[in-house]
Amino acid sequence: MSTSREPVGVIGTGYVGLVTAAGFAELGSDVWCVDIDAAKVERLRAGEAPIYEPGLEQLLERNAGRLHFSTELAGALEHARLLFVAVGTPPTHSGDADLSAVHAVVDAIPAAEDRALVMKSTVPCGTGATLQRVFDEQGKGALAYVSCPEFLKEGSALEDFLEPDRVVVGDDGGWAGDAVVELYAPLGAPLVRTDVASAEMVKLASNAFLATKISFINEIANVCEETGADVVEVARGMGLDARIGSKFLQAGIGFGGSCFPKDVDALKQLAGNSGYHFQLLTSVIEVNELQKRRVIGKLQKHLGSLARKRVALLGLAFKPETDDMREASSLVLSARLNADGAIVSAYDPVAEEQARRLVSGITFADSALAAVEGADAVVLVTEWKEFLELDFSRVAEAMAGNLLIDGRNALDPRRVREAGLLYEGVGRGSVAAPGGAAGVAGAHAATVAPEHADARTVEAT
Ligand SMILES: NC(=O)c1ccc[n+]([C@@H]2O[C@H](COP(=O)([O-])OP(=O)(O)OC[C@H]3O[C@@H](n4cnc5c(N)ncnc54)[C@H](O)[C@@H]3O)[C@@H](O)[C@H]2O)c1
Repeated sequence: MSTSREPVGVIGTGYVGLVTAAGFAELGSDVWCVDIDAAKVERLRAGEAPIYEPGLEQLLERNAGRLHFSTELAGALEHARLLFVAVGTPPTHSGDADLSAVHAVVDAIPAAEDRALVMKSTVPCGTGATLQRVFDEQGKGALAYVSCPEFLKEGSALEDFLEPDRVVVGDDGGWAGDAVVELYAPLGAPLVRTDVASAEMVKLASNAFLATKISFINEIANVCEETGADVVEVARGMGLDARIGSKFLQAGIGFGGSCFPKDVDALKQLAGNSGYHFQLLTSVIEVNELQKRRVIGKLQKHLGSLARKRVALLGLAFKPETDDMREASSLVLSARLNADGAIVSAYDPVAEEQARRLVSGITFADSALAAVEGADAVVLVTEWKEFLELDFSRVAEAMAGNLLIDGRNALDPRRVREAGLLYEGVGRGSVAAPGGAAGVAGAHAATVAPEHADARTVEAT
């Protein structure tokens, strides 16, 4: 199928690359996708989405005629001027971003005057300048370079691509930046056209700020547990202040995912490398790590030693509507439970396949009710919609004990308690228990507003 829109190449077809490819195809471009993972390319050619992302499979199918998948760069080089790079930049042991996949792509791209490398991967500030020096050293100085960081969130990635809050394009003002701006123009999003280093920093600073907001409200939640306040009420009151806003202000058992932990660490490390100690981000990371472990303390408070206790985890993915298990809180939680000798069962609607590769020592159940069968305690780890709609009377009947820890403050405590379960959320010290008794962690009785039933947690990317 031919099109008047600029054809593009996308190198790396993971969460970002595939969504970017499907999005540009939807806007009318032919997209030449390249990935070194032959099995992934095979699945994509067969019309299968190798990741779970709502609406992705349908979008790939609808635009199948415009999407081309290969393990070779040749097609992208032949047909596209703009080569979007969306390879992984995972953390190294030092906390720096591992740029080896980015460098592999740079090394593979031949010299050409009318080609540009457009960086979608999240890279440290200064990477663009380094890569341009590498181009020069390799005799490829005519290649253009554009930083175009990606802000999509897994679970709503297509929507985020098609209706972005902003598009950031960092370049030296040449043809390539203009062409990228043109590609995104139909979306009508506010444009931030800036220099490469600033574009790179916009991405890192945005993720670091959102992570800071989450760690902040988690610390407020921990103080609420000591003082009898309800963090859901506190966040509601704070969030209505337009200067603060209600997003990323939901307390829970910590942020995870492939972006926040690594990007916060990478920015802290980047600052450290240039001689600046980023005190605030050091705390944000530490608070998050401790937050994941607080569930263990709550379980011990009610069950004593966890040895041979049966604990069911509802949800494993780092957030709902994704199968991504990278840095998920469930990884730390299940490992800690195993270390304490607990018998762990778990159910996740879509992340089991990914989880099996990363988690050992737990039993995977086929449904939420099967997971809670015989459990002494249940922990809501990921707020999938189906868990919010559970019949808690049936949960109570299936369990051996009665403790439910709502790690995402996503459930209606009244509904859980009416089913005969002992509810404990995060920072909900004053949420009333049946008969007017205070919640387990607090002293003051209060009524739970119905809107709390819909409280959602981490909206991390
Ligand atoms: N996942 C998100 O929500 C998100 C959001 C914004 C930005 N980002 C950033 O985007 C980048 C990609 O993230 P992701 O989650 O899509 O990663 P991913 O691991 O899902 O996908 C990366 C893909 O790149 C492929 N790849 C690796 N080396 C390659 C090479 N030399 N040539 C071709 N393909 C290669 C891998 O096989 C894989 O399919 C990262 O820098 C990440 O920080 C991610």
